[in-house]
Amino acid sequence: MSFTFKPLHSIFTAEAEGFDLRRPLGAEALDAVTAAMDRYAVLVFRGQDIDDDQQLAFGLNFGPLEAEPATVELHRRRLKHARMNDISNLDEQGRILAADDRRRMFNLGNRLWHSDSSFKATPSKYSLLHARVVPSAGGETEFADMRHAWDTLPAPLQARVEALVCEHSLLFSRAQLGFAEFTEAERERFAPVPQRLVRRHPGSGRRSLFLSSHIGRIVGWPVPEALMLIRDLIEHATPREAVYVHRWRVGDLVMWDNRCTLHRGRGYDDQAEARDLRRVTLMDVAPTLEQAA
Ligand code: OGA
Ligand code: MN
Repeated sequence: MSFTFKPLHSIFTAEAEGFDLRRPLGAEALDAVTAAMDRYAVLVFRGQDIDDDQQLAFGLNFGPLEAEPATVELHRRRLKHARMNDISNLDEQGRILAADDRRRMFNLGNRLWHSDSSFKATPSKYSLLHARVVPSAGGETEFADMRHAWDTLPAPLQARVEALVCEHSLLFSRAQLGFAEFTEAERERFAPVPQRLVRRHPGSGRRSLFLSSHIGRIVGWPVPEALMLIRDLIEHATPREAVYVHRWRVGDLVMWDNRCTLHRGRGYDDQAEARDLRRVTLMDVAPTLEQAA
């Protein structure tokens, strides 16, 4: 069996060919995926007819799973595995979420540029998102490479930001959209966590900007100045020509490295059409402040 990685559109995304994710992969295949993840940061596996168990099993080859999805209304779960993220517009009965459903409002936060779980003390390593049902139009997912964003940052700005520490929280990203009605328990669960703004990607040795719309503070900075800088950096990091746009087909599995990429979802007619994607999310090794800069 031979594996190939065919670059797509931009320098950090490749299509992985020669893989059948229904079955356990051997050491050679797993090494090839790990090496490709380090070189690129987003891999696309097309035509994978896998179920939740097979998706989880594939993900677990690359590290431990995150404890639980960070979302609201956790008790109203549609998927069989508590640790799988439901990236859909469906309720626990499989019906389209009502226009004013709190989960629908909360999920809109995925349309802001972010890195998954940057708001957790130990953030995420990889995400693996698989498409089961896709709408006829829209609903793309976009990606950008934060190593490239660092490399292309003017040197004076690199010097200005390299030691900064940001606070990340789901409360901050949701507040950007005016979603602020959190329970006391949610406020506690989503309390801000500190993360380095500039980190080193262990697999490639390259530095990267650890950006996210979950950032709401820079330690030691006035809030408006902090938010302005983060906005400028996200703009710098996501020019159209540097963005890979994934147009979903049923059976696509897209795997990305949250340590060195940003992503966001795009809109679709979510009141008329179903979109059912499911995500397996792996944990990084430690909080970024405990990792080498
Ligand atoms: C995610 C995510 C965006 C989308 O699954 O982590 O942000 O396009 N998805 O659904
Ligand atoms: Mn996400």
